[in-house]
Amino acid sequence: MSAPVVEGFDRRAAALLRAAANDLKRDDDNAERDLGLEPGTFAEYTSGRRPVDWALLRRAAEVWPLNERDLLPIHDDCPTGLTVLRAKESVASSRLLARGGTDYYEYRDTAMARIASYRPEWIRMLQVVEDDRADNPKVQWNRGHLLYQFTYFVGPVNYYYRWEGRSYCVPMRTGDSVWGLPFAPHSFTARTDAEPAYILALTYGGGLTGDAQRELAVLGRQTARDLALPVTPDASSAAGPVRSFMAAGCVTPAELAARTGLTPERIRQLTGTGPQAVPTPEELTVLADGLGVSVRDLLPPRSTARHGVSIQHARDARSWVYPDEARPAYRLTRLAGDPLHPYTSSLQLDVLATADAGSAPLTTYQHQYLFVLGDAPVRISWERDGERRTDVLEPGDSAYTEPLVPLTLSAVTGTAPRVLLLRIGGQVTPEVRHALGAMAEQGIDRYIAEDRLWYSKEGH
Ligand SMILES: [Fe+2]
Repeated sequence: MSAPVVEGFDRRAAALLRAAANDLKRDDDNAERDLGLEPGTFAEYTSGRRPVDWALLRRAAEVWPLNERDLLPIHDDCPTGLTVLRAKESVASSRLLARGGTDYYEYRDTAMARIASYRPEWIRMLQVVEDDRADNPKVQWNRGHLLYQFTYFVGPVNYYYRWEGRSYCVPMRTGDSVWGLPFAPHSFTARTDAEPAYILALTYGGGLTGDAQRELAVLGRQTARDLALPVTPDASSAAGPVRSFMAAGCVTPAELAARTGLTPERIRQLTGTGPQAVPTPEELTVLADGLGVSVRDLLPPRSTARHGVSIQHARDARSWVYPDEARPAYRLTRLAGDPLHPYTSSLQLDVLATADAGSAPLTTYQHQYLFVLGDAPVRISWERDGERRTDVLEPGDSAYTEPLVPLTLSAVTGTAPRVLLLRIGGQVTPEVRHALGAMAEQGIDRYIAEDRLWYSKEGH
């Protein structure tokens, strides 16, 4: 895996320091006094002439109400927009993990990047079972884990999962996939050792890792429990968002009735304090108006997960060609996912184009992971900062691409390549994207790299 580029890191650290001082309304003189710096040195730090060091971060976190991590940028280990992990590097990361005294899995790393929350592993099942019973004593269960898991199955793999104390076993075949919720115990075995049996276990944090987890760790268990909004198919999950906005604005049921024209009785139903009801589209509009929010803020999410998982068998997966029937570059198959995670997309991609010119670029706002399935190599070309690059990925190679990097795939040999794609949303959520779209002129440039004091010393 490539080493991070330090030069950009220092530049981003300098910008974060300036932005933090601006937020705290400290000009250079005040910042120097607070941080115990010689006159003139703060500008050296914020211009990048002098690297921000650990001592400065410690001092800033002591005297200012912020955290060291607020001043720490992230590494860019994907400067061309795409990073590859070769099959042989993946094999070199191989390690056997034993459960109950016998080797149970072989793990191999696949492509990861520091900017994305993927932790994707190639995992071979070493335990062979003779039946599909969930209580087979040869099955070694884990304790569940934080990360969401999308799993793609290759060969005769048994998938086991547990939800609310009940255990299930589903025999899987090549092309089947499953998406699972955090902390649900699961396991995998092989039904035979006569053919390969492995999975691509693509785990990722999405919005759960990073700042939200750190904030809740400080707030504590009870607050985290109280902040959890239920995801249920009935009316109870519609009431949560409305109640939250009422509490935020100190809005009483009588006040909300006056603002919306709805009866107090109806308000009680919609906020879950009486017999529960789901708001009609018209009621959502007046509630959003009355609470000063958008309709989307009042809509509960939907989940189709059953017992914590969404299973997609290859035999009944949707499949279509892209970009159109007249000039098909790819055949796509939709894999497992869940409406609870609208910013995750999983696809199996069969590459039909035999040359770069006859193919079609694929672009997404998401972080993107690729794994070359099957036996055929695939040519990939992509563009970043006006520069076009090409590479050939062999079977077992994997790659990561940054958001909005256009990627074109084509066949190298007579065999159509097959590629697994898992695309996930990062920290740039729709809320952030809307905020970027609403900023004043030059706002975006200064947001990603603040380079100046928030006012002019000379005055204007
Ligand atoms: Fe797992």
